[in-house]
Formats: sequence, C-alpha cells, structure tokens
Amino acid sequence: MNILLIGSGGREHAFAWKITQSIHCKKLFIAPGNAGTATIGENVPISVTDFKRLGSFCLENQISLVVVGPEEPLVNGLRDYFEATDELKNIPFVGPGKIGAQLEGSKDFSKKFMARHGIPTAASQTFTKESVEEGIAFIQKQPLPIVLKADGLAAGKGVLICDNYEQAQNEFNAMLLENKFGAASAKVVIEEFLEGIELSVFVAVDGSEYIVLPEAKDYKRIGDGDTGPNTGGMGAVSPVPFADGEFMQKVRERVVMPTILGLMKDHIPYQGFIFVGLMNKAGDPFVIEYNVRMGDPETQAVLPRIKSDFLELLMSIGTKTLGQYTLSVATSTATTVVMVAKGYPDAYEKGKIIEGLNVAATENSLVFHAGTVSGGSGTVHTAGGRVLGITGLGEEIPDAISNAYACVEKISWDGANYRKDIGQDILLLQK
Ligand code: AMP
Ligand code: GLY
Repeated sequence: MNILLIGSGGREHAFAWKITQSIHCKKLFIAPGNAGTATIGENVPISVTDFKRLGSFCLENQISLVVVGPEEPLVNGLRDYFEATDELKNIPFVGPGKIGAQLEGSKDFSKKFMARHGIPTAASQTFTKESVEEGIAFIQKQPLPIVLKADGLAAGKGVLICDNYEQAQNEFNAMLLENKFGAASAKVVIEEFLEGIELSVFVAVDGSEYIVLPEAKDYKRIGDGDTGPNTGGMGAVSPVPFADGEFMQKVRERVVMPTILGLMKDHIPYQGFIFVGLMNKAGDPFVIEYNVRMGDPETQAVLPRIKSDFLELLMSIGTKTLGQYTLSVATSTATTVVMVAKGYPDAYEKGKIIEGLNVAATENSLVFHAGTVSGGSGTVHTAGGRVLGITGLGEEIPDAISNAYACVEKISWDGANYRKDIGQDILLLQK
C-alpha cells in the first residue's frame, strides 16, 4: 500500500524507518520530511497545515493510510477536513479529530476531562482576563512552587514553574493581560506542583480498543543534571526500570482505562496515539499532561523495541481492528541522545555541514534525523534546533548508553551540543 506520513522530525524518521520494514509498504511519502526520511521514502514539499494539498496528494497517489506525527495539524482539524471531504473520508487515518486533539490543544479541556472521569492529576483552577483578581488571590493561597500553564499550544514553552509569589503574579499577569503566549494564554491554568519522577506512557487507540506501548523517560532540560531551560526533549530511555509491573498496573487501571472510557462516554471518537505524561509521586501515577501523538525523542527509543509489524499496528488503528493486533516488544533496552544546534533552545544556528553520518551507525545504533536538509552532492546540513537523535541498543541500559554515545562521537558539526548524562539517573536509581 501507499502511505502518507505527515511531519518532519526525529519521530517521523523513526516512523518511516519502521513503516518501510513492513512487507505491506509499497511506497512511503513523507510531507515534508527531512534528509533522513528522504533516504527511505519520498519527501513531498507540502506543509503539515496545507490541508487542501495534503488531500489532493492522497487522491493523486492512491494513498491507503495517512499517519500524522505532530499535534498541530490535528489540533487544527486535519482529520475533520478529510472526514468532511467525500473522496477522502474513507482513507484510514491515524490521529484524532479536532475535539479529541483538545486533550493536548487545551489544558483547561484536559483538566476538566480528567476531573469528570476521576483521573488522578494535580489540583488546578482556570482563569481568564475577566477573573485576574480572583487568580491573584488564588496564587497567594497556594504553596510554592506554583505551576502556571497557558491553555493552548505554545511550542512547548507555555508551562512556567514559579519559585516565589511575585514571579507567579507577574507571569500570570503577563500571560493574561499582555498576551505573553498570544491566544494560547487567553486562559491560564494554575496548578499544584507535583514532586516525583516523570514517565512517558504511549497508548495506541482505535476508538474502543487500546494497546499500551513501551514506556520511556524523557530528558527535558538542555543541560546535564537536569539544568537550564526546557527543550522539546534531549534524550530518552526505554524501558524505565521504576515503571515495573505494579506501577504500570496502576497506570492502566487509574489512567489509561478511565481515559479510553472517558472518551467513549463523552462521545469523542479517537483513532491515534495518546501520550500520557505522568509523574510517579511516591509510587502513584498522576497525569501531568496528555499529548495526542507520540513523543519526540521518545519514539526513537520506543519504536526500535517493537518487534511486531508497526505498519500493521497503524493500519489497525486506522481501521478499528486493534483488538486483532498482537504487540511484541523486545526485552532489550534503547537509549536516545539528541544532538542539537548551537544556541538551542533559544535562537540557534543553521546550515552547518554534518560530518560522519555515513560511518556512524552500527548494528547496535541508529541515526534518526530531525532538523536536517540535503545540501546536494551527498552533504547534509543542519536546519533545526534538534538535529539528530542517536539511538543505542543493548541488552542492558549501560550497553545501550555506551552504544549511543559511541555513535554520537563519530558525528560532528560546528557548534553541535548534546547531553552527556542520558540514562545516568536511571542507573543511580537502580543501585
Ligand atoms: P508540559 O509543557 O505540559 O509538558 O510541561 C512541561 C514540564 O513542566 C513537564 O514535563 C514537567 O516537567 C513540568 N510540569 C508540568 N506540570 C507540572 C506539575 N503540576 N508539577 C510539576 N512539574 C510540572
Ligand atoms: N518529548 C516530549 C514531547 O514529545 O512532547
């Protein structure tokens, strides 16, 4: 079959890598893709938000499955556009419609959803321009630190953790009264701070059936030892030792099942992935956030551990036959180290030639591209903040870590940066 994959990051390169291993894959197109996806499929220069051109591309190229990587087209209603168009509505589609995508697109929506369905999460209250005074009074009564969240999508920057009341008050005012995050901060959620260790849990959903995929731990801060500003994610490890049978059972019973049942009770159709960001607070799971897609870089650590046919998994999401799919997962481990451009997560450099790509990967490591473009005559240039995701594989986590870093060390460009401590916290926890 012909498949259209939408997106251009490391997550999409990992999807493309896994999809093209399937015997069912005839031709894979990626819109718009990156220099990595171009080596295994055909990149098509269509923006992820150009619904019309994505639709006509599907018709012209006999596409039998559409897979959406990032949240933006989902929140903006790409699925709804396909469903409203006669010629497109029968193409199996992986990714929720606009209403389901509100789980990520609106923090206020997701907090109300969790409250309605008894899903454990931090206590919170939502405020608007009209209720600024009440919000300020509310802030004064909260223990420190205080978590402020812009309601809408804010490119991963909309969450602020404030250590004192003055900062919380100033940021709250800036979000509501000075549109700090534009329309995304027209509503602000004030939330209790959860202490614990974070975990990313991924669920494939076809509307009624679901399968929990391997979990992963993300490394959000730019610097070693979890220092410096937040990023999209600087690394990942899968599996996560503290997510043992007992903890994952709690996650299924308290979070995953009530989420799927909640969607059904609320008559929200959902075919796609749900990524639950969790806090393990003294052995109990609390939801920090929902995302309506797979995680990046977590996907680069999760997918290499899936042994069963990933395209069949995607098809069974799109055709509501997930109940017939059997997931098979390797017991071995994966560690992903993200290599980023100089300056990231602030303004960063672009256009640097990447050296070593052709010799870097081994049988124990994989190179996934994110912000890269082909520079002609076989060269690859940096074109984004997060440039590459290098995944090491190994029986045990220390093997996966050393295989990842051995590969990272063979790759270079002017100003390349990466964390040196991915997975080290997990090794300490295991001791
Ligand atoms: P988000 O943009 O929702 O992924 O949030 C960014 C990061 O902020 C999360 O990954 C957590 O590390 C942190 N965070 C968000 N909400 C809370 C909370 N209620 N308590 C503690 N940390 C939080
Ligand atoms: N790594 C976190 C995310 O994909 O949002």
